[in-house]
Amino acid sequence: MSIVELKNVVKSFSGPQGNIVAVNNLSFQAKESGVLGILGPNGAGKTTTLRMIATIYKPDRGTIMVDGIDVLKEPLKVRSKIAYMPQEPDLIPSLSVEDHITYYLRFRGFDKKEAKKCCEEALRSFNLEKHRNKKPFQLSTGLKRRVQLASVLSAEAPVIFLDEPTTGLDPMSKRNTWELIKDRIEDSGATILLTSHDLYEVEYLANRVIIINNGRLIAEGTPRDLRKKFGKSVKVVFEDSLSFDALRGELMGVEGVKDISQVSENAVEIKLDSIDRSINNLVRVLASKELQIKDIITTAANFEDVYLEILGGEI
Ligand SMILES: Nc1ncnc2c1ncn2[C@@H]1O[C@H](COP(=O)(O)OP(=O)(O)OP(=O)(O)O)[C@@H](O)[C@H]1O
Ligand SMILES: [Mg+2]
Repeated sequence: MSIVELKNVVKSFSGPQGNIVAVNNLSFQAKESGVLGILGPNGAGKTTTLRMIATIYKPDRGTIMVDGIDVLKEPLKVRSKIAYMPQEPDLIPSLSVEDHITYYLRFRGFDKKEAKKCCEEALRSFNLEKHRNKKPFQLSTGLKRRVQLASVLSAEAPVIFLDEPTTGLDPMSKRNTWELIKDRIEDSGATILLTSHDLYEVEYLANRVIIINNGRLIAEGTPRDLRKKFGKSVKVVFEDSLSFDALRGELMGVEGVKDISQVSENAVEIKLDSIDRSINNLVRVLASKELQIKDIITTAANFEDVYLEILGGEI
C-alpha cells in the first residue's frame, strides 16, 4: 500500500526574474515501510516536494495524500503522522541538546517520563551524551545534524522526511547514522523519504529511488533495476593501437550500440542498450575486422555512473 501519494503536483515561486516552476506535474508514490530515495541535482525541486508533503508549502495544483489523508484538507492530521528533518539546521538557540530532543518528543505527544527515557536512548545511540548540556552555538555542524536526526528518528512518526541528513557528517557518524536509519525501519516499519547527494548512501539505504530534474520525474525503480536498465558498457582492448574514427564509424551502425569513446591508444569503451542482446552483434562485427582483440571486459557501472547517465540523457 502507498503511504505517500502525489498526483500531478505543481508548485511555482515568483521571483525577480519571473515565475520559477520548482515542481512540474510530479506524480509518485512511496510504499509503506522502507526508504524512498529522492535524487536530483541542486534546484531540482526535492526540498520543495518534501515541504509540500510535510504541509509547509501548499501545492498550486495536484493532490498529495499521506496515509490516505489529503494534506490540503487536513494538514493537522497529516502533521501528527510525520517527522521532518529540514536541510538547514533548525535548532532553537536557547535550548541545550538534551532539552531540544526532549521538547521535540513532548511536542510529538510523548509524556514527560517517556520523553526523558527516549531522550536518554537517543543521546546514547547518537553519541551525544557528552554534548547534552551544550547550546547550538557550541556545536559543530555535524553535531547539530546529529541532534536533529536523534530528535526526528526517536519520534514515533510513521512517515519521516530526511532532507540531506548526513551532509557534513564524518564517515564514522555517517555509517552509524545509516545503521540507525535501518534499525528504525526494522523496529517500527516506518517509511522514510530521503534526499541525498551521496549516491552510495542512497543505494545502501533505499528500496526504491526516484530521480527528479527541473521539477519533473525522469526515472524511478529499485537501484538494481536502474543499474540494469542504464549503464551497460564493455571495454574492448586491442593488441595494437587503432584508428578510432574508422572504428567508431563502423560500430555506431551496429544494433544496440549507443556510444563509443576511446580510453587509451588501443582500447575503447562501448555503451550498449543491453549487454545480453548487443554484445553478440558487437563481437560479430569486431571479428569480421582485421583487429586482434586482447580482452573484452564488461564493466558494471556503479550507481553514480548510472545516475549521471540518466541525467546526461536529459540535457
Ligand atoms: N521559497 C522559495 N522562493 C523562491 N524560489 C524557491 C523557494 N524555494 C525553492 N525555490 C526554487 O525552486 C527550485 C527548487 O528548489 P529546491 O530547494 O526544491 O531544490 P533541491 O532539489 O532541494 O536542491 P538542493 O539539492 O540544492 O537542496 C530552485 O530553483 C529554487 O531556487
Ligand atoms: Mg534541497
